[in-house]
Amino acid sequence: MSALAVTAPAFGKSAPQNMADGIEEASLFKIRPHVQLLNEDAVAIVWVTHSKSTGYVTWSQDGWKTTERAWDEEDGLLSANSTLHRAFISGIDPSKPLEYKAHSRPFKNFGPYSVSYSGAEEVCSGTMRAIAPVDAEVSWAMFNDVHENLAVYNKFMPYLSDISGFCVLNGDIVNHVDDEKDVTDRLIEPLSRIAQKTSLPVWYLRGNHETRGAFARNMRDYLALKDGHYFGAASLGGIRFVFLDCGEDKKDTSPEYSGLVNFDRYIERQNAWLEKEVASSEWKSAKARIAIRHIPAALTIPHRSGWKHGLGRLNHMDDILKNANVTLAMGAHLHNWGFHAPIPDRPYPLVVGGGPKLGEPIGKSSATLVKCHCKGGAIAVRILDETGKVVSSENVKI
Ligand SMILES: [Fe+2]
Repeated sequence: MSALAVTAPAFGKSAPQNMADGIEEASLFKIRPHVQLLNEDAVAIVWVTHSKSTGYVTWSQDGWKTTERAWDEEDGLLSANSTLHRAFISGIDPSKPLEYKAHSRPFKNFGPYSVSYSGAEEVCSGTMRAIAPVDAEVSWAMFNDVHENLAVYNKFMPYLSDISGFCVLNGDIVNHVDDEKDVTDRLIEPLSRIAQKTSLPVWYLRGNHETRGAFARNMRDYLALKDGHYFGAASLGGIRFVFLDCGEDKKDTSPEYSGLVNFDRYIERQNAWLEKEVASSEWKSAKARIAIRHIPAALTIPHRSGWKHGLGRLNHMDDILKNANVTLAMGAHLHNWGFHAPIPDRPYPLVVGGGPKLGEPIGKSSATLVKCHCKGGAIAVRILDETGKVVSSENVKI
């Protein structure tokens, strides 16, 4: 279980795996682009190159009759001379597919008054589905607690064909972030793989494991975080989604953290943002309100979120959500999948995904894919095991 993960051998580093679908050694592109959802009319395209390059995107929603270009600029400087590339796109029509091309050209020399290139510009293409179709049906899916078991993605990818909205990776995707390779191979590459294979945008939400390790503080540099935060909110097809970062799962004073964390203060800062979010017209007027977080609120017992670890810092978050007319919560962390009906301390249903385990025997700690489909007046919430079998099916009224 995650509570033991700081020292448990089960959460050591996975052996390197061939992820050739996303990494092309012969190409400038080390990891092909993925689409990060930011809102129904805004996304970011993210990719990684082998060497320092330029990085911009061209995109179209009318079959390239018209072409838009997105080249991020900061303080007057266009994004360049980096192996990490992000291009933010706004003003898209979510009812139409988006075609995009990532462009990069490697530098040979980056002088103060002239630059030279070591090769021609290379292009890598991708497509994003119509994420909010005109039939008003909205669907999304959740991976969680993959814990570097990269085989999970290929196993569940075929079951995403009827999802049009997005995939959320709800934390503990990496066991601990020791170096750049942990970020690129175990997080960015899976995001790319999902985006390229399914034409879906993604939202990565941090779990408690990704706060650990020498490179955890660098991980944000590789991501297109909405407004620069690991938490955020997005609207899609009339539904409002809030993504909450629950931080570590033990007290700040726990010896494992060596006095180098302050999640108490961080969660309170996030709660101040959450209070504004649930008071906003986007939240209040939405046809459904979905709260996604790694560490879930109480299950079937009258305890708070921190019941596993005596962690009280999530009580305030629970209280805000308790009074926010939440339609459905999605959680992870427990390695014990299930659907939990509302209780007084948590007056909304909660679906929790399983753990990283693949293979027989399939049980409650096995890997799952949680799929949600909003149609008419209800959200169908299904939990699938690795064989594609629906092991839980519930309808949540909106
Ligand atoms: Fe966790």
